[in-house]
Amino acid sequence: MTDSSRKKVLLGVTGGVAAYKSAELVRLLVRSGIEVQVVMTSAACGFITPATLQALSGNPVFTDMWDARIANNMAHIDLTRDKAAIVVAPATADFMAKLANGLADDLLSTLCLARECPLLVAPAMNRQMWDNPATRRNAAQLERDGLTLLGPASGDQACGETGMGRMLEAQEIADATIAFLAPKLLKGARVLITAGPTFEAIDAVRGITNRSSGKMGYAVARAALGAGAKVALISGPVSLSAPAGVDITHIETAAQMFEAVKKQVANADIFISVAAVADYQVDQPREHKVKKSDEAQLSLQLVPNPDILGWVAARPKPPFCVGFAAESRNLDTYAEQKRRRKNIPLMVANLAQHAIGADDNEVMLLDDTGTHQLDRAPKDVVAQQIIAHIAKLYDSTKKRKAKP
Ligand code: C5P
Repeated sequence: MTDSSRKKVLLGVTGGVAAYKSAELVRLLVRSGIEVQVVMTSAACGFITPATLQALSGNPVFTDMWDARIANNMAHIDLTRDKAAIVVAPATADFMAKLANGLADDLLSTLCLARECPLLVAPAMNRQMWDNPATRRNAAQLERDGLTLLGPASGDQACGETGMGRMLEAQEIADATIAFLAPKLLKGARVLITAGPTFEAIDAVRGITNRSSGKMGYAVARAALGAGAKVALISGPVSLSAPAGVDITHIETAAQMFEAVKKQVANADIFISVAAVADYQVDQPREHKVKKSDEAQLSLQLVPNPDILGWVAARPKPPFCVGFAAESRNLDTYAEQKRRRKNIPLMVANLAQHAIGADDNEVMLLDDTGTHQLDRAPKDVVAQQIIAHIAKLYDSTKKRKAKP
């Protein structure tokens, strides 16, 4: 992605203990391809240093109305005009009160008042402060004024109490911001996605699985959500949390994934099969743990699993089908052979040794028009590009079908 095409977000950090999560938020936004400009209140600097956020964002941090680095002394204007959005996280009760009343007595509150772009606010405070009628009034006023509130969540608080007012996790705020900014290329489309590995039991405790982390499938789910789609995700065993707003089904085996797909596919316009489905399952897994014996060898009988994507693509009226091919060599040849064999319009191909478990990926898209190589990038960025490509092909398929 070129620098000029990167979306720019101004992240405002105010003085709450949740400011420690802002560092992770900056990292996640930057990794997803967003350029981040941080502005901190002086109280925020008591919780986290500008140096940390400067290092993570790669941009100087501003804290003061009179910063000499802004030649015309108009930091409150200059810092916001090229931004796609302002996100304030954490937003204290005091800062929400200022926003609700249009106060502008420091750089962050002044630039929020002077902004032309949308403002997203992630409240963070003690549960009594959140429940206080003044804060309730302010939160309602902010929504009436067209601001987007992200959270808060309920849970353990830094003060030792438990309740509503805790700031959302950095990943949740990053997901919401990315989704807010994404072009709505799949608005209204229903997208079914499979992700992660499958686990095929050998006995009560052992099984056959693979190294898939689910990161790519979950990134595709986030990107589809951001593009305005209604997303259902069928996930094998992974250690990731489902993106907020996704309809999640957890499965373990390929057979269970097949059942879940069969149930849900009639409601899908697009099917994206990112899962690394086991090709074989153990014939008659043992109910109890197999004991070690003196026999030199132990054999497992394997039987093939159903080809879920192949089955979906062969339906009389299939959704728009997308497959993922992980190969360890001859990537384009093998992936194109798979695309033709499964009779699907789009195959995303990656080298297994570069993709599995990693945070970055480098993929090639194969469709009827040929091969399109994407640059190596974080999986969230790659997922957004894949979704943009799917949206383009899906639109032209829809238009072709609509022609008399
Ligand atoms: O395993 P293979 O490389 O053939 O996987 C290619 C595509 O087929 C992937 O999108 C994968 O999710 C899907 N697949 C499937 N059912 C299987 C095996 C693979 O849907 N049993």
